[in-house]
Amino acid sequence: MTDRKRKIDLGDGGDPKNSRPRDVGTAANPGVNPLTGRQFSQNYYKILEKRLNLPVYEFKESFIQTVRENQIVVLVGETGSGKTTQITQFLVDGGYCQRGADGKVRGIACTQPRRVAAMSVARRVAEEMDVELGQQVGYTIRFEDLTGPNTILRYMTD
Ligand SMILES: Nc1ncnc2c1ncn2[C@@H]1O[C@H](COP(=O)(O)OP(=O)(O)OP(=O)(O)O)[C@@H](O)[C@H]1O
Ligand SMILES: [Mg+2]
Repeated sequence: MTDRKRKIDLGDGGDPKNSRPRDVGTAANPGVNPLTGRQFSQNYYKILEKRLNLPVYEFKESFIQTVRENQIVVLVGETGSGKTTQITQFLVDGGYCQRGADGKVRGIACTQPRRVAAMSVARRVAEEMDVELGQQVGYTIRFEDLTGPNTILRYMTD
């Protein structure tokens, strides 16, 4: 029997030890941001410490796995737990950004209820990922599109 709807408990498989972000770069290039090819800044490590302590962090691997196995996932988490800023980055780390055969990027989009929210969260996440706002991380709102051909993570209004 196929379940029409299944509730998934994200609280059983998470182990923070097993899930690291791009904090040390790749094995071949430790300390280098694979998105930019530049050394991670001091600010990056400072913010990383805070990110690792956010409630969603321990569910990183089980979240990515759940997305892989399900067409639709509904995630519920308290305000400030890291849904908007971290889950999007989990998807980037999970490999959900690809450059297609046409050379265009298939990236992650995250909608926000207000224009200011889209702008401020994009700024914050660009800082967290140690990239320039409008490059790998940007926002698209009415009258303003601060994204480009390299944008993999886009915050936007509905
Ligand atoms: N601009 C910022 N400067 C400093 N810290 C920030 C900033 N934006 C977010 N944070 C930190 O990141 C954490 C996660 O924020 P995030 O917006 O991802 O939460 P959320 O789960 O989406 O919350 P909500 O349900 O309210 O949308 C916050 O608890 C806060 O500590
Ligand atoms: Mg949010």
